[in-house]
Amino acid sequence: MDNIISAQGLAKSFGSLKAVDDLTLYVRKGEIYGFLGPNGAGKTTTIRMLTTMDPPDSGSVAIDGFDTRKDFIEARRRIGVIQQHHSLDKDLTVKENIYHHALMQNIPFKECKSRVEEIIPLMELQERMNTKAEKLSGGWKKRVAIVCSLIHRPEILFMDEPTTGLDTQSRNALWKLIRSINRTGTTVFLTTHYIFEAESLCDRVGIINKGKLIVEGTPQELRSRIGDYALVVTDPAGEESVSYHSDLPAARKAAQEAPGDCVISIRPSNLEDVFLELTGRKIRCSTSRPRCSGSPTAICVI
Ligand SMILES: Nc1ncnc2c1ncn2[C@@H]1O[C@H](COP(=O)(O)OP(=O)(O)O)[C@@H](O)[C@H]1O
Ligand SMILES: [Mg+2]
Repeated sequence: MDNIISAQGLAKSFGSLKAVDDLTLYVRKGEIYGFLGPNGAGKTTTIRMLTTMDPPDSGSVAIDGFDTRKDFIEARRRIGVIQQHHSLDKDLTVKENIYHHALMQNIPFKECKSRVEEIIPLMELQERMNTKAEKLSGGWKKRVAIVCSLIHRPEILFMDEPTTGLDTQSRNALWKLIRSINRTGTTVFLTTHYIFEAESLCDRVGIINKGKLIVEGTPQELRSRIGDYALVVTDPAGEESVSYHSDLPAARKAAQEAPGDCVISIRPSNLEDVFLELTGRKIRCSTSRPRCSGSPTAICVI
């Protein structure tokens, strides 16, 4: 399959801090690629280098075969970017914001009109075209930012933490939108620190920790690396120990060997387990972000 992003040996330091350290990754045309890691892992720094916003200290990036240094304009033309904190003009209406953005991209007014008519129904923004940006909720602002970033018909859409700060309803709506944008043929590269988002939305996931890509694959491939089933043994003092097993019979067999006074549960393993196994880092659940309870896989890396 063709790669739309080929990044090799990317590195970026801020003083003595290596924010991104010798990172090589490939993203295939047409996929939703999730870049998962805790806060401070180097996700934004990476996305800024991939999208030509910041030059790497070393390494190279090619977008659809165009080197972002040598063929900057061709590479840039293929990219749409939604940064974590997007910059809509709050005093302008949705329509004015979109047209302003399109004209900045040198898209002629007539052409712009037909593109807007094409994208707006997908985003369900028809009713809000004359609403001022400041009156929109976070989820609707994000939709407008998506329209702005798609107006020049990029082949790949980069989204930095697209659902951070959104309520559950807006997050679900945004996932639906990301899937429909992807179905039109646009590759999506998104960063996230929500394990559930990476697992349920992305075709392939790269896990980044301390500036290094530590593992990559489909969510299922990553889970299978450690074992598809987790056996959780909780002792009377509340101490948990987790072991991973390739199948249910193996997990059940191991459960029989646990001390009789322990509480035992077997559940499917998830990307949180993968992260924990590979990094040894503690994973905590956020309470202020999308609800993490209810599903054993809905756990976030903080
Ligand atoms: N402009 C900057 N100046 C100094 N340090 C930075 C700058 N940008 C990022 N960093 C540091 O680099 C590391 C990676 O940051 P970032 O890429 O923003 O991580 P993430 O997006 O995964 O949360 C962090 O330790 C952060 O504090
Ligand atoms: Mg970030």
